[in-house]
Amino acid sequence: MSVDINTSEISGGETARAEIGAADSDPIEPSAPNRLSHSISVAPPAPNWDSVLEDAAQVPTLMIVDEIDLNRRLLRAMLKAASYRILEAKRPSEALAILEREKVDLVIVDQVMPEMSGTEFCQLVKNDKRTQLTPLLMTTSVQGMDNEVAGFESGADEFLVKPLRPALVRTRIRSMLRNKALVDSLEEAEGILFALAQSVEHRDRYTGMHCERLAAYAIALAQALGLPRREHLALYRGGYLHDIGKIVIPDAILFKRGLLTEQEWEVMRQHTIRGEEICRPMKTLAPVLPIIRSHHERWDGTGYPDGLRGEDIPLLARILQVADIYDALTTARPYKPAFSHQHALELMHEEARRGWRDPELVPLFAEVTSQSDDSGKLWAGEGMQQSLSAMRRELAK
Ligand SMILES: [Fe+2]
Repeated sequence: MSVDINTSEISGGETARAEIGAADSDPIEPSAPNRLSHSISVAPPAPNWDSVLEDAAQVPTLMIVDEIDLNRRLLRAMLKAASYRILEAKRPSEALAILEREKVDLVIVDQVMPEMSGTEFCQLVKNDKRTQLTPLLMTTSVQGMDNEVAGFESGADEFLVKPLRPALVRTRIRSMLRNKALVDSLEEAEGILFALAQSVEHRDRYTGMHCERLAAYAIALAQALGLPRREHLALYRGGYLHDIGKIVIPDAILFKRGLLTEQEWEVMRQHTIRGEEICRPMKTLAPVLPIIRSHHERWDGTGYPDGLRGEDIPLLARILQVADIYDALTTARPYKPAFSHQHALELMHEEARRGWRDPELVPLFAEVTSQSDDSGKLWAGEGMQQSLSAMRRELAK
């Protein structure tokens, strides 16, 4: 079924219900000042450095990798006073098997071992995405700068020359574990943000799998443009996080039936700025911030929140916007049926002609999706499915 609508009724796939009849008539206020009273605090608490380790959910697990029994016993004795869970491996192959099945917080590895050298072992651990964040402390009997340089280049995080001094070993390990605990807490925080973003989607969207489809469409465009893989990952994350700022939008506005008042629109538009504020403390999300902030800008400068124009709008934001509009058009919403692939493209071309969308991205998207079926299953393709799976794996690490 095809239903004719004015393309101004759908803008950016953004809760199109709320934008019906309002998108064009609303004056846009670039860089609108923050006048929201219902803000949330996003400033991270200052870490208490001494308590980072004590606050860790579990006793840290250390693994000693050394062929010589006496060396392992000595290290155990040095660490006896601290409450660590200590695992031992005589050979690199044993150590790698333990890393496969156990969560290890720090590895102490001797440079001289059977099967492979300590530096080769470090390379293997650091080249595996699953273990690359595990801190490695290398011990060696070989003095000399060249040796240390080789150790660090292989991925060892710290280096101790034998004979080991107990106080130095304990201090170094404690320092490395503190850093690891901070990295772990950042990863957990990122996981919480994604869970939060999905809960926003479930509140606001009427269709399942919206984020996955958005990511698939956006990555298809990124591939067609030849963008590097890190930008694919930013788009994948952006697919989930772009509307996270809606967490601060009151339900009375987010779910209002009928037109929003100008005051309510002002609040609604703030979700872009709020979303950026929520994600800004996470350094790993830096490439996603322009997507979150600028996914409602328009090519002709009439979008929000900054009224950016043309190529001043970050490319990744323009890409996600095209994907978001297509998904909004091709899925059913309470105020409209799901439009066909062809009808959705016609509406998007119309928006490009009006000057709202990137005039090159829309035709490219039409070309990229020319192989999709009428239900919009662009991501059914094997390559796209693999790409999405890779993104999911990358994020799960
Ligand atoms: Fe949005």
